[in-house]
Amino acid sequence: MSTNIFWQESPIGKTERQKLLNQKGCVVWITGLSGSGKSTLACSLSRELYTRGKLSYILDGDNLRHGLNKDLGFKAEDRVENIRRVGEVAKLFADAGLICIASLISPYRKDRDAYFSAFIKHLVYMNMSLQLCEARDPKGLYKLARAGKIKGFTGIDDPYESPLNCEIELKEKEGECPSPVTMAEEVIAYLEAKG
Ligand code: PPS
Repeated sequence: MSTNIFWQESPIGKTERQKLLNQKGCVVWITGLSGSGKSTLACSLSRELYTRGKLSYILDGDNLRHGLNKDLGFKAEDRVENIRRVGEVAKLFADAGLICIASLISPYRKDRDAYFSAFIKHLVYMNMSLQLCEARDPKGLYKLARAGKIKGFTGIDDPYESPLNCEIELKEKEGECPSPVTMAEEVIAYLEAKG
């Protein structure tokens, strides 16, 4: 960090912003393999919250790599920087009073935990098997990875470290991913219970 820099306080605080929006700002962080349904859950959750009068904003890994993170690839250090940047942005959104839904593979436990302990209180783990994700292969990326056309693909030749503890674990049932609305309702029930 640079020296000779000073923190500028905002004239309106988080409490006032939350009062204006009638909600509590927070980060819901969704982690899981490619094709595990992270983005689908994020969209369904955002819509369900909207129908309940709650304002959310999705930070999607794929989307952010079109802009903010367009300089990053998929080497370990790039993924670490990706999570750091999105973690910082998510922190700002939560401070603004929004329900920020971050949806990223975020494969490394250490990086998730670094932000988790600080301000991400709600970690959702899409615990779908590699077999299921690969069978779904919505973008055809597993096929390319298996053919050696993508190197360092998560779950194939790059690691995914599953969370040791998370608030919500969504699992496949009989080889199928639960419906997006069912999953979103589970997350909302949890958030409501947390106030
Ligand atoms: S990470 O690991 O958290 O930095 O990844 P993320 O920013 O979430 O981006 C994941 C999406 O990038 C596409 N993609 C890859 N994923 C994993 N490994 C490799 N090598 C790779 N190359 C491209 C893929 O579409 C991921 O999207 P999802 O939605 O997870 O399928």
